Amino acid sequence: MVERETWISRAGFIFAAVGSAVGLGNIWRFPWLTAQNGGSAFLLVYLIIVLGVGVPGLLASFVIGRRSKRNPVGAFKSLGGGRVWTALGGLCVVTSIVLISFYTVVGGWILRYLLESFTGAYFTQPAAHFDSIAFGTQAFFYQVVFLLVTVVVVMAGVRKGIEATTKLMTPAIILLLGGLAVWAFYQPDTASGYEFYLAFDVQYLADNFIAVLGAAAGQALFTLSIGSGTMLTYASYLEEDRSLPADGSIIALLNLGVGVLAGLVVFPLLFSFVGEPTGGGTGALFVSIAGAFATLPGGRLIGGLFFFTILLAALSSSISMLEIPVAYLVDEFDYDRPQATGGLFALVLGAGAINAFDSNVFEIVAGPIVNQLLTLGLIGFMLYTAWILGDEAVEEFTKGGGTIARTVGVPWRYTVGTILPLFLLFSFYTNVISLLG
Ligand code: PHE
Ligand code: NA
Repeated sequence: MVERETWISRAGFIFAAVGSAVGLGNIWRFPWLTAQNGGSAFLLVYLIIVLGVGVPGLLASFVIGRRSKRNPVGAFKSLGGGRVWTALGGLCVVTSIVLISFYTVVGGWILRYLLESFTGAYFTQPAAHFDSIAFGTQAFFYQVVFLLVTVVVVMAGVRKGIEATTKLMTPAIILLLGGLAVWAFYQPDTASGYEFYLAFDVQYLADNFIAVLGAAAGQALFTLSIGSGTMLTYASYLEEDRSLPADGSIIALLNLGVGVLAGLVVFPLLFSFVGEPTGGGTGALFVSIAGAFATLPGGRLIGGLFFFTILLAALSSSISMLEIPVAYLVDEFDYDRPQATGGLFALVLGAGAINAFDSNVFEIVAGPIVNQLLTLGLIGFMLYTAWILGDEAVEEFTKGGGTIARTVGVPWRYTVGTILPLFLLFSFYTNVISLLG
């Protein structure tokens, strides 16, 4: 058996994890959620949710991963606790396939829009253009290309594939977004864009508090990639000398920063060149924003840069999704990595095609199904950490850390064992209710 890989450097792990976290969730979903839920007042609530629920959850994932040095299934099997927990690992493998199957559809759209920014194909009628390409054979074609790129990276391994590419991609995403935000700032009539995004609306928050909490929690899980097994798997390639709480906090804050930054690109641009957008959702990215590139001077170049940035963000996330089942096949069945990745390519192609051809399936998968899978997964990770690993989890949490890590270790254990799963259960429940209408 080949020796299991590890990250070359601490920065390598952080870039890979931030790359996983930073994705479509930050660039489109997050700014919208903020604008619609009270602007900067929402940011405050969201920050509390990220620090209070997201980071502890991220750390539960990290603890299980580094303690076991295995994929999700192998992790629960080797750390013990019985079959129910091994099944939770199995759920992660399922979740990862579900995630990639819809995410690569969007990845395909982005790839297409990147190319079309240079030809101007979506410029004349953004809405009609998007409708005509979003689902069907062409969507599938671009999905396959996007998936192929993901496969090539994962096939190359943890160090030569994932670490080597995300070490470039993640800083590039941040720099490009920063550059675009500065550029947007100098465009005419942007004030109402910033206003729409960040105006401090406490009244809205007060009136819709429960709904806002649920939305913030769902977003925190998706954007931090937790509850899926991705962060667990990435942490399984970590060595003992890193402090999990330190790395986890850096990752969560960088991810939040990128979300805020994305809003500073999107809204000034929209208000400056298109006017008030009519709705959120992934489609709007390809309609409203694409419409802005059609009117603004130098739109082809700026549009190209914009979609290139999102493409990097989406790729580094889909890479992290695919690594879950690959690690599973490699750890548990001794497949070699290229074999495992190739086999999964075929499987994901099938699952992905259903999403690329059927918009109804896509909507349900991308929304409620993913939300609920992540929530369930994370509830499981938290309970497992606190009640099956217990002291062992606290030890792993504290390892490599300083006074702060030692002080918060025990409180962290009991919070992830009690209040947080209850909170998630509650948001899961409200989710189901809203699903039933
Ligand atoms: N965090 C990614 C995003 O915001 C999505 C993701 C979810 C990636 C779960 C991996 C696992 O786009
Ligand atoms: Na990403």
